[in-house]
Amino acid sequence: MPELRWSPESWRGKPIEQAPIYPDPAQLAGVERQLGGFPPLVFAGEARKLKRALGSVANGEAFLLQGGDCAESFAEHSADNIRDFFRVFLQMAVVLTFAAASPVVKVGRIAGQFAKPRSAPNEVQDGVELPSYRGDIINDIAFTAEARTPDPRRQLEAYRQSAATLNLIRAFANGGYANLENAHRWMLGFVKDSPQSSRYQELADRITETLGFMRAIGLDPEAHPELRQTDFYTSHEALLLGYEQAMTRVDSTSGDWYATSGHMLWIGDRTRQAGHAHIEYCRGVKNPIGLKCGPSLKPDELIRLIDILNPGDEPGRLTLISRYGADKVGDQLPPLVRAVKREGRTIVWSCDPMHGNTIKAANHYKTRPFERIMQEIRSFFAVHQAEGTYAGGVHLEMTGKDVTECTGGARAITELDLRDRYHTYCDPRLNAEQAIEVAFLVAELLKAERLAAARPTRVDAAE
Ligand code: PEP
Ligand code: CO
Repeated sequence: MPELRWSPESWRGKPIEQAPIYPDPAQLAGVERQLGGFPPLVFAGEARKLKRALGSVANGEAFLLQGGDCAESFAEHSADNIRDFFRVFLQMAVVLTFAAASPVVKVGRIAGQFAKPRSAPNEVQDGVELPSYRGDIINDIAFTAEARTPDPRRQLEAYRQSAATLNLIRAFANGGYANLENAHRWMLGFVKDSPQSSRYQELADRITETLGFMRAIGLDPEAHPELRQTDFYTSHEALLLGYEQAMTRVDSTSGDWYATSGHMLWIGDRTRQAGHAHIEYCRGVKNPIGLKCGPSLKPDELIRLIDILNPGDEPGRLTLISRYGADKVGDQLPPLVRAVKREGRTIVWSCDPMHGNTIKAANHYKTRPFERIMQEIRSFFAVHQAEGTYAGGVHLEMTGKDVTECTGGARAITELDLRDRYHTYCDPRLNAEQAIEVAFLVAELLKAERLAAARPTRVDAAE
């Protein structure tokens, strides 16, 4: 049984994985105190709205699109990057909404996605061993002893960057940029001459026609805020718990605790042990929570985690993000899906087709073959179809830029091309064109899923 008493600092008494060691604990405490006095980045009411939207995903009535950088960085903080990401994300959402006729819940890995779990605490280069890079909120990626020493002041910088990023995103989402009338203009220059571009332009033409049709029959699109603006939410891995604790506030309306560092938090595959610090922190905040589910997670362990994280079986509270790898998902996901179904739990199933498909190219670049990413998504939908459950979302590492980090896709990026524009601070991301290609695939699968759900069974048809 989980302990019932919870407070924003109760995680401190639990075993913890992936925690950085700060050389000056007094300085760390000072920074955390300072953060504790700063304004929240998001509001409880927004987190509740996202939870309701995810509740409709859990019921099979909407689809979750979650994506963004593996790790945001201080060096790549610019309006251009944020805009390019936002517009590719909008395009993907349009593809899914229109092609699959499904409402899309939009959640970015952005405005707070700075802390990274690592598979080894240290890294060796040319015989020199230093602490691993753990994300810009903790240390610097440069391979020197000074850069790799955790520095608490970086948390203040991460807060500042998150606030600035969120401010711009809110402006884009509500200030006219996301207006569907602009769907034609969202195409990025470098994608213009690709197959994805013509597919997308066709779809944008149909949207323009639809808006024209609405006007012709006397409906004014301008009178519908849904067409001019969009709900966009932020998310990140709740890894650096001192930072999360400092940003945890009581909501004055409900009296409940909320994480105000982002709308949705998720728990990584390496930090999801029941009774340990990360689960302890997340169980007490009322935000929507994601839980990464990888190959080592047993069905009974998963049910125990659901008991702890969503004891009231609240729809939209918990999203299970499976990340197996294209070759494993077909065998390893069904036992989890069956356990959750047998226990009658209300959750969202989402597919992270990135983290189980990372390989080392011959030239040592960490990469992900596009075909494996697509294959994991296809298998994920097939598993849910076979089990009679709803494939509710995808979780992607992607950017709006024309990077060369994942091989394959319409432009057939090769291992040799990787060195051209390999910019990621951590894992390889889909570039804008590959991201749109994935969106078209998911739209097809989602359309088939929705048609199958709507089709009467043979017995019904005979009646
Ligand atoms: C991530 O999402 O960047 C990540 C580290 O994932 P996982 O915890 O699933 O390995
Ligand atoms: Co990653």
